[in-house]
Amino acid sequence: MKIILFALPGNEELAKVLADKLKAEMGEATIRRFPDGESYVRILSDVKDKKVVLVCSLHQPDEKLLPLYFLSNVAKDLGAKCTCLVAPYLAYMRQDKIFHEGEGVTSKYFARLVSGFADSLVTVDPHLHRISSLGEVYSIPTEVVHAAGAISEWIKKHIENPVLVGPDSESEQWVSEVAKHAGAPFLVLEKTRHGDRDVEVSVPQVEAFKNHTPVLVDDIISTARTMIETVGHLKKASMKAPVCIGVHAVFSGEAFWDLLNSGVEKVVTCNTIPHGSNAIDLSGLYVDFIQNFEKPII
Ligand code: R5P
Repeated sequence: MKIILFALPGNEELAKVLADKLKAEMGEATIRRFPDGESYVRILSDVKDKKVVLVCSLHQPDEKLLPLYFLSNVAKDLGAKCTCLVAPYLAYMRQDKIFHEGEGVTSKYFARLVSGFADSLVTVDPHLHRISSLGEVYSIPTEVVHAAGAISEWIKKHIENPVLVGPDSESEQWVSEVAKHAGAPFLVLEKTRHGDRDVEVSVPQVEAFKNHTPVLVDDIISTARTMIETVGHLKKASMKAPVCIGVHAVFSGEAFWDLLNSGVEKVVTCNTIPHGSNAIDLSGLYVDFIQNFEKPII
């Protein structure tokens, strides 16, 4: 089946790299807003009988969802065989339980929406915590690819004598993997979040690692409060300035600059969300899933 890729705004670079790797065609589409704020979508390429790949990382998801929904539906109305969503960052995964009365599990609602228009989904390290696999909430075939291997390679190449630090128990899953491949020791801290920007992280026991370079690894850096709080503890313990690595560079508001100015050596992220700190390329991880996905005939 022929493959054609469409980049949602902001995802052009990744879509082109993927098109090259897949030796596939880049599709042309107009995606814009009408003066009244409604979304306009027009596909200009031939998609009939093709596998349509929609490349759209889902940070700031609310504004992206409708154009994506329209594009997927237009493609199918124009005869596409199936649509495959490449969303390196998958939103709403942290709302995986009812924290306060009156809330809902928005991870589940969001999954229902996406499953309603895309035929498949590939993403990088979604925040799987209380939901243990995407299949629990997504009703379409999904594939999770992992950044750990590429992060380990980056650490091996750029950091001498690292000790990896995960800021909370959820981070243990990827920090332990990264540490294993990088051949480095690791510590996992305890975190309590009191509010969006109010985070408490336990004091790391780093006495044995005074000559190491601390490398903080987390899946998401959003307000950066988790990292900044951890950096503060490391400073107090007279450790070397840490390198901070995030899979997903969400960085809300001034978070990136706040982190950079908190006494770190460097901030590095994977290219799941386009950002100046991207230094670890994961584009190769999506290729197999895109190539192999076939829509089941029902
Ligand atoms: C949540 O537990 C995640 O793994 C991250 O630790 C969290 O999203 C980081 O958020 P922030 O940068 O806002 O502290």
